[in-house]
Amino acid sequence: MFSRRRFLLASSSLVALTPLLGFGSSTQYPFTLGVASGCPRDNSVVLWTRLAPKPLQGGGMPSGIVAVRYRVCSDPSMKTTVRQGVVQTSEIKGHSVHVTVDGLRPGREYWYQFYLGDDDSPIGRTRTSDSQALTTTLALAACQHYESGYFGAFRDLAKWAPDCVIHVGDYIYEGAARPLYTCDENNSKDLERQVVRQHNGAEITTLWDYRNRYALYRLDSDLQAAHAASPWIVAMDDHEIDNNWANNTPQDPWAQTELEFKVRRLAALQAYYEHMPLEHPPVINGIDATLHMHDVYRMGPAQIHLLDTRQYRSDQVCGQGFPADFPCDALQDPTLTMTGQAQEKWLFEHLRKSDAEFNVLAQQTWFSPYRYAENDKAKQWNMDQWDGYPIQRQRIIDRLADVSNPVVLSGDWHCANANTIHRDPLDSNSSIVGHEFATSSISSNCPWKSAVHDAAPLNEHVHYVNGDKRGYLRSTVTKNNWKSEYRVMDKQTSAEAKASTDYEFNTRDA
Ligand SMILES: [Fe+2]
Repeated sequence: MFSRRRFLLASSSLVALTPLLGFGSSTQYPFTLGVASGCPRDNSVVLWTRLAPKPLQGGGMPSGIVAVRYRVCSDPSMKTTVRQGVVQTSEIKGHSVHVTVDGLRPGREYWYQFYLGDDDSPIGRTRTSDSQALTTTLALAACQHYESGYFGAFRDLAKWAPDCVIHVGDYIYEGAARPLYTCDENNSKDLERQVVRQHNGAEITTLWDYRNRYALYRLDSDLQAAHAASPWIVAMDDHEIDNNWANNTPQDPWAQTELEFKVRRLAALQAYYEHMPLEHPPVINGIDATLHMHDVYRMGPAQIHLLDTRQYRSDQVCGQGFPADFPCDALQDPTLTMTGQAQEKWLFEHLRKSDAEFNVLAQQTWFSPYRYAENDKAKQWNMDQWDGYPIQRQRIIDRLADVSNPVVLSGDWHCANANTIHRDPLDSNSSIVGHEFATSSISSNCPWKSAVHDAAPLNEHVHYVNGDKRGYLRSTVTKNNWKSEYRVMDKQTSAEAKASTDYEFNTRDA
């Protein structure tokens, strides 16, 4: 059995260099926000926790450097240690803890735990990737509005414990608390207004606010279970800062100046890093901040290109969102970009070199077109999605046509769908280039679901669409097939909701 005393002796040389603060059982439990792991590689993984004895009041740790111990074991009962060490943190990073553990073996499960004083964190399970594996399991999740519903989808996801969870944004929402409102589960319109539990405080804009909002979400036991079950790879969408922001431009520049928005963006990026198992903190230059989120991961037969479509995006044209002002000549501007030029170049380079059976773009918004009205009518597109950036989308489709089995994974719209991606995306008679699978939301409402469902006949490339149910996407990937299972919750009003599979799509059948 693991001996705390033996561990302290083993790591005494590290501890001796550290001006340790007294912190033990006399204070409140510091691991209230659970544990997480992420960025799985064949030989390494990032472990995360944050010390927060008073999670909704800034964290509650005293100022100063704290040394946190950790162990990585090859068994769930934490008997066989394969790595251990001590890592420092302080109020500079909100007492968050990030450890990159390397020297691990590919495709192996590991269990990990953090220790501070007499307190032990929950035990997390993680798994390294295996680029040579013949199969892999991936979950896709997005959009978890805390007030709109419970996180039962994460409870189901945690039980499945996939090789990797891909989260493509709206991990938190920035809005103010609304009054509690109980609704009739069977009344779809009423359901959109329900508030099952409340946000903490007003709309968030400062680092203090963002930390407390992340802490509120992270106190949810289902979300903690999902983080403790699998490694995650994450890239934010808009609500981690503000609705429909693009680079340094807010959705409402008349209400917040670019300077104010940059300060807000810096705070939000810092808080996001502090609550995610990320390898690198934000790069801060004055009030300009950038957080590295786009990256490439290899999970058996799937090469996953995780994209960041907010930090380097051109501002939306033609009315900012949905529905758009149309017709609009600005849409044809070839410099309009979701990713920025450098990320596009990076993506094309990785696609060119890939030898994977499946080449995945995991990203935030719907990639395929979705027409909401006949051709000659106005207001037919959503400008915040790839329909607002059609020239860059075509460049990407042209590249995807040259690689093996492209798959695009999407979130954002709180509505699940399964599409074929066509060489001419507006012509479903043109050749099929690949597939898109969009997840529903974990808990966020879909007030525009009637518009989506009513328009389905106008979109022949769309094989499944569901805005009625909350859930997530399960994917099981082998050399010859990508299976997507759309998991849905039977209720949105109950914390005890049950999950089932609503639809299954196999690419080998397409
Ligand atoms: Fe969302």
